[in-house]
Amino acid sequence: MNKLLIANWKMNPETLREAVRLARAEDLSGVVVAPPFVYLESAGKALRNAHLGAQDVSLSEPRAVTGEISPVMLKNLGVKFVIVGHSERRALGETDEMINKKVIAALKAGLKVVLCVGEPSRPMTRTKNYVKNQLEKDLAGLLKLKAKSSKLIIAYEPVWAIGTGTPDNPKTAAEMISYIKKLLKAKSLKLKAVKVLYGGSVTAKNSAGFFKRPEIDGALVGGASLNAKEFRKIWGNCFIKYGRV
Ligand code: PGA
Repeated sequence: MNKLLIANWKMNPETLREAVRLARAEDLSGVVVAPPFVYLESAGKALRNAHLGAQDVSLSEPRAVTGEISPVMLKNLGVKFVIVGHSERRALGETDEMINKKVIAALKAGLKVVLCVGEPSRPMTRTKNYVKNQLEKDLAGLLKLKAKSSKLIIAYEPVWAIGTGTPDNPKTAAEMISYIKKLLKAKSLKLKAVKVLYGGSVTAKNSAGFFKRPEIDGALVGGASLNAKEFRKIWGNCFIKYGRV
């Protein structure tokens, strides 16, 4: 499967100028650039090769909800991908039920969904049950929607590895990703060729260890995506060495 690399800028940078500069520097094939909402339009105009992604979306269609951004609004702005259920949003109070509504609303609007799952702590047995439970709840009703596998991407992000400088071991990450793929293929979902990415403290230095594993279809990169030089090195490890652009 072709690899995919997502630059999740989170709540950065502080100015539009810097955002446009960063978007230009990360405009590479196989990449999704996910800036904050306020920079989406300008960043989108700076992209020729990379796709535009949003970091979140509202769970409802346009109506009177102050401060929310609907899936249709994103679609009409040229957004192709949307991150849903990031652990930083779950920590702010997003529940699996809300995430499930967001997944369905975004897919209905024609966006590709990057659903983030991951456990707060190990051991592995508990981890598998935790992630299984998240997937079952977050993807409930998908079979009815007849969503295509290509419209859904899963990012496996162990919460303890996000922004800590302590990534998962590529071997364990690959084991979890194979497990997730097995769950997605099961009768209840019938999603056969879903890309599953790894996320959590990916850097230029450790990225090749993840990309060389065939089970891992790419990465969701946070902190390291704010440094274009570092991000381009990760891209090189992902696509020049181990994937097709
Ligand atoms: P990190 O973030 O690369 O800074 O650990 C990853 C993510 O939260 O998507």
